Amino acid sequence: MARIELVNVAHSYDGGKEYALKPLNMVWEDGRTYALLGPSGCGKTTMLNIISGLLKPSEGRLLFDGVDVTDSNTAGRNIAQVFQFPVIYSTMTVAQNLAFPLVCRGYPDHEIRRRVDNVAGLLGLSDKMQMPARRLTADLKQLVSMGRGLVREDVSAILLDEPLTVIDPQMKFELRRKLKQINREFGITMVFVTHDQNEAMTFAEEVVVMKDGEIMQRGSPQDLFERPDNTFVGYFIGSPPMNFLDARLEGGTLVCEGLGYHAPVQGVPAGARMQLGFRPEFVVLDGNGADIRTRARVEHVDNLGVEAVITLSLSDGQIVRAKQQGRFRAIAGENLGLGVRAENLQIYCNGQRLG
Ligand SMILES: Nc1ncnc2c1ncn2[C@@H]1O[C@H](COP(=O)(O)OP(=O)(O)OP(=O)(O)O)[C@@H](O)[C@H]1O
Ligand SMILES: [Mg+2]
Repeated sequence: MARIELVNVAHSYDGGKEYALKPLNMVWEDGRTYALLGPSGCGKTTMLNIISGLLKPSEGRLLFDGVDVTDSNTAGRNIAQVFQFPVIYSTMTVAQNLAFPLVCRGYPDHEIRRRVDNVAGLLGLSDKMQMPARRLTADLKQLVSMGRGLVREDVSAILLDEPLTVIDPQMKFELRRKLKQINREFGITMVFVTHDQNEAMTFAEEVVVMKDGEIMQRGSPQDLFERPDNTFVGYFIGSPPMNFLDARLEGGTLVCEGLGYHAPVQGVPAGARMQLGFRPEFVVLDGNGADIRTRARVEHVDNLGVEAVITLSLSDGQIVRAKQQGRFRAIAGENLGLGVRAENLQIYCNGQRLG
């Protein structure tokens, strides 16, 4: 197990014309669960391949527990990597596939049997052990592929690159739970790549959001939800995304007429784009008890069963979405009170959160 540190790491696939990963410093703490989240092409796989050693970064150093491993190969780093599509030996049985990484490393038979039985039990593969792997369905093949990473209890980290893509949605939940159980049992650092925010938010203690080869924010799922560092994270996390309302500066006062918001603000450069951000979940419909209150017109209501999304327009024409538990009864054109508590409102200056 290891603390993994990236020091000024950057990567370009084309000799420096474009950076798939821009220079960054970051630490993956030992024993934690991480999700790496971001749109296609933002550099998630590049980051994982640099950690595992499949890719040598064009700049910077990689340290495992303070030891420089930038020049060591994948074997020297002792990292298990699970890919989007299963990598298995189709001529071997399930049991042989699971045992393979341990056989290669010369583990004694009784130890191999113990670990293989344990992982097979965890993944629900115990009754398939003698089956040839080629006869498994795609999701079972992926389970075996994951199992091959998990039998190695002594790995520095397990890196999973969108491993659940081929897995049945109902099973995804169960698998994430099992991965967390394995993390708790063996204390192995896990980095889980996904572009599914629900997967990231339910799996990880810490979520790292990337865009265009840069880290936009890292923090607990709650941090990302409650205090997005920038408007990108506010849009990317949450469904519907965070509300962002344009506001303007009048002297030292920030004004958003539609929301009935006037408040002093400091340290803002002239001509900056100012926005107020708040989550649909934090909108108080009727406005009672909220610090900032106004009236809004219902545009439409989407009742989604357990919750409802209400689209409203403010007097200045800006749109706000509210999310409420249960069924919401209102008709288009109706006027309602709308409010936000000060603690749930963030101010953004040129896309970055103030304060
Ligand atoms: N082998 C390669 N050669 C050249 N460019 C590459 C290579 N692999 C990735 N890239 C480019 O580097 C950037 C980051 O790619 P990367 O595969 O790391 O993204 P990703 O976040 O994993 O995307 P996805 O969600 O689609 O898997 C992209 O612009 C991609 O086109
Ligand atoms: Mg990828």
